[in-house]
Amino acid sequence: MKQKTIAVLGAGTMGQAILKGLIGSGHPRHLLRATTRTSDAAAKVSDDLGVRATTDSVTASGEANIVVIALKPMTLPNVLKQVAAAGALKRGTLVISISAGVSSAAIEAIVGVHVPVLRAMPNTPCAIGRGMTVLSRGQAAKATHITMATRIFEPLGRVLELEEKHMNTVTGLSASGPAFLYVIIEALADGAVARGLPRGIAIEMAAQMVYGAASMVLETGRHPAALKDDVTTPAGCTIAGILALEDGRIRSVLSRAVEVASVRAGELGKKDPGD
Ligand SMILES: NC(=O)c1ccc[n+]([C@@H]2O[C@H](COP(=O)([O-])OP(=O)(O)OC[C@H]3O[C@@H](n4cnc5c(N)ncnc54)[C@H](OP(=O)(O)O)[C@@H]3O)[C@@H](O)[C@H]2O)c1
Repeated sequence: MKQKTIAVLGAGTMGQAILKGLIGSGHPRHLLRATTRTSDAAAKVSDDLGVRATTDSVTASGEANIVVIALKPMTLPNVLKQVAAAGALKRGTLVISISAGVSSAAIEAIVGVHVPVLRAMPNTPCAIGRGMTVLSRGQAAKATHITMATRIFEPLGRVLELEEKHMNTVTGLSASGPAFLYVIIEALADGAVARGLPRGIAIEMAAQMVYGAASMVLETGRHPAALKDDVTTPAGCTIAGILALEDGRIRSVLSRAVEVASVRAGELGKKDPGD
């Protein structure tokens, strides 16, 4: 794996997170390529990460054993058509797309069904190694390709494989989800600020509390409802707060947020830009 050349097409927020994970896990910088739309952005990526960055996705792909597509869904077809038309994908090159809503079939229609294609859905906490990435296989992808992709995304957090039919839901839950949680953290802090706690302390406490609660779910393996019951002393303050949450229909609001984000994810590869 450490001998493979990896090109990241679209070195923006997520592309750079992937590159940083690769560098952090010891992948040689001289075997990494990055592309951007503008030469200014390429120069910055090159300065910041010490990898070869250009605006030439055809050449970068031609030099790669693994091409990671981190372009916006609306940008992907044009760039990939240029790469494919130039014959830049070598035999056996693995293509991994993180673009939301773009199916493996849509990618295979451009690069050919014989090319191994994986989809990956990471999230922004990947930038600090606490992300979640879900992988799914296209037609020609084998277990060895999943192993290669796992090695790319494991330094960025947890990785699991699911069938592609779940990818839009994964996008609505774990890729959009951090934004939902930031709103919740801000709102929780607001409640404490209203009671007189300084803003910075309130945000730090809310974030650490969310981190701790999430870790309890992951590390104990217990159901969130059982963990909630541990906190709710009869006639106590927590159950009073829970009733206020239920009055505000917190469960259906959060569930619907994931549902609509998942539906929207499915539209991204087909409709207007802006995810
Ligand atoms: N952000 C998330 O939370 C998240 C999570 C999971 C998946 N995704 C998926 O990741 C993809 C990228 O999202 P992002 O948030 O990282 O976007 P972003 O920060 O806007 O990055 C997009 C990158 O694509 C480059 N680009 C645009 N046109 C190009 C071209 N013709 N050739 C080469 N590079 C080009 C841009 O370069 P310039 O800077 O020069 O314009 C930029 O570096 C999307 O498909 C999204 O669905 C995002």
